[in-house]
Amino acid sequence: MKIVIATKNRHKFTEISCSLAGIEGISLVSLNDFPNAPDVIEDGETFEENAVKKASEIAEYIGLPAMADDSGIVVDALDGRPGVLSARYGGPGLDDGGRNRLLLGEVRGVPPQGRTARFVCVIAVAFPGGGHHTSRGECAGCIADEMSGTHGFGYDPIFFLPEYGKTMAEIPLEEKNRISHRARAIEGMRTILAGMTGGTG
Ligand code: IMP
Repeated sequence: MKIVIATKNRHKFTEISCSLAGIEGISLVSLNDFPNAPDVIEDGETFEENAVKKASEIAEYIGLPAMADDSGIVVDALDGRPGVLSARYGGPGLDDGGRNRLLLGEVRGVPPQGRTARFVCVIAVAFPGGGHHTSRGECAGCIADEMSGTHGFGYDPIFFLPEYGKTMAEIPLEEKNRISHRARAIEGMRTILAGMTGGTG
């Protein structure tokens, strides 16, 4: 079975396709092989809705099963924000640093026990004609008092991992890729795909 990875981001394609490599009966192709595929608008209220919407619209358009993900950071003290708005939190004028400063300001004064947060990633595989499966991965931590670290991207510099005593941006990328929400969601998807094809995973 051929599955289209519904992202034009080469980094994401490489991460997902490397992690899902070797499942018997599955081959993965990039959305870059389908330059006219539409850009799907991510207007869902949950990570699941967005991932399923992206995967379904691409599967319908291309006529092959498609896989898509949606991810972000959920902060308990902010009633779950930024959530599905993570990439565009604070509006289009902000970069990653600006979004991190905004979030730090919003939780200023919140005591350590109230600063819990998690990264969430949902991966969906959808089929032309209907039907889908999803896999959710989470990584728990809390919001630091200030930014630190230079690895990773996005909210990594303010995401503190108590078991490491460091932010996500201070641990090596290989370690992040072992414990991250994305790694966990991909692992679940590996099991789903292996079950679908009867492969060994
Ligand atoms: P998307 O899933 O590519 O739409 O990404 C959503 C947004 O969530 C990103 O732009 C980042 O701001 C944030 N995000 C998702 N995963 C991570 C991560 O591993 N580290 C830091 N930020 C992340």
